Amino acid sequence: MAEIICPVCGELLTATNRTYKCKNNHCFDMAKEGYVNLLTGKHKPGSEMGDNRDMALNRREFLCEGYFDALVHGIIELIKEQALPRPVIADICCGEGYYGDRIKNEIECDVFGFDLSKEMVRLASKRKNGITYFVGNLSHIPVRDSSVDIALHLFAPFHEKEFSRIIKDNGYIISVVAGENHLFELKELLYDTPYKNDEKPPETANLTLLEKRKITARVHLKSNKDIMALFKMTPYYYHTKDEDKAKLTDINGMDITTEFVLFVYSK
Ligand SMILES: C[S@@+](CC[C@H](N)C(=O)[O-])C[C@H]1O[C@@H](n2cnc3c(N)ncnc32)[C@H](O)[C@@H]1O
Ligand SMILES: [Zn+2]
Repeated sequence: MAEIICPVCGELLTATNRTYKCKNNHCFDMAKEGYVNLLTGKHKPGSEMGDNRDMALNRREFLCEGYFDALVHGIIELIKEQALPRPVIADICCGEGYYGDRIKNEIECDVFGFDLSKEMVRLASKRKNGITYFVGNLSHIPVRDSSVDIALHLFAPFHEKEFSRIIKDNGYIISVVAGENHLFELKELLYDTPYKNDEKPPETANLTLLEKRKITARVHLKSNKDIMALFKMTPYYYHTKDEDKAKLTDINGMDITTEFVLFVYSK
């Protein structure tokens, strides 16, 4: 099970009657969806509070169509290859909980997920899949040292010190970044000079890179709704001029490359 600690004093938290409590009586109530907010004043980041409600809903809408299935299968294969008995898996910056949910359905494991965005965590918790979700900041993960077998980190900021701290000595970090050709056809439609992704691994000082695996799959986006949901869950949407956004209005389907690079680290 996940060993979640009190963000105030660091003692273990236990859940009873919809409240998480530590032995020093610091209490954190569960929201009606079942998640708990473990962000305390000192770890709340200024005005930037993670992805907003629209981003959460677009991510949910797009991912549940199965367009990133190749990635899901790749992650599940990697986890199975580690052959860890009932691993504890941390879905770091879990978003709306898609990947943790798919993994839990296919592997005997305990999963917990957290994200800075309350909207993301709220949506994730509605899955009611036995996964513990909390709102938290990856710069201060309220989880006991060396208590996680696999830290899963997809398309999110990286924090080497915290990820190393929470994984066991024989644990792993699986980090996923977009491959150079990921969604290139979408960028070709939008921009005069589309750039490929740089495919850079996370910056690490002390972790050991055990493996790098690339997954490429062509998928067919079957409606304008799906194309727009994809566009809106990427950072491109927020950096594209309205006149360029309009180029997608009449596109009702397209073939597109999905490409992911998986990095596996140990400490
Ligand atoms: C691109 S989304 C990826 C979400 C999910 N991993 C997925 O692939 O569906 C990045 C996520 O990182 C979260 N995030 C950003 N900064 C964070 C931080 N400091 N601590 C925790 N989560 C953070 C955002 O709220 C957002 O949900
Ligand atoms: Zn406490």
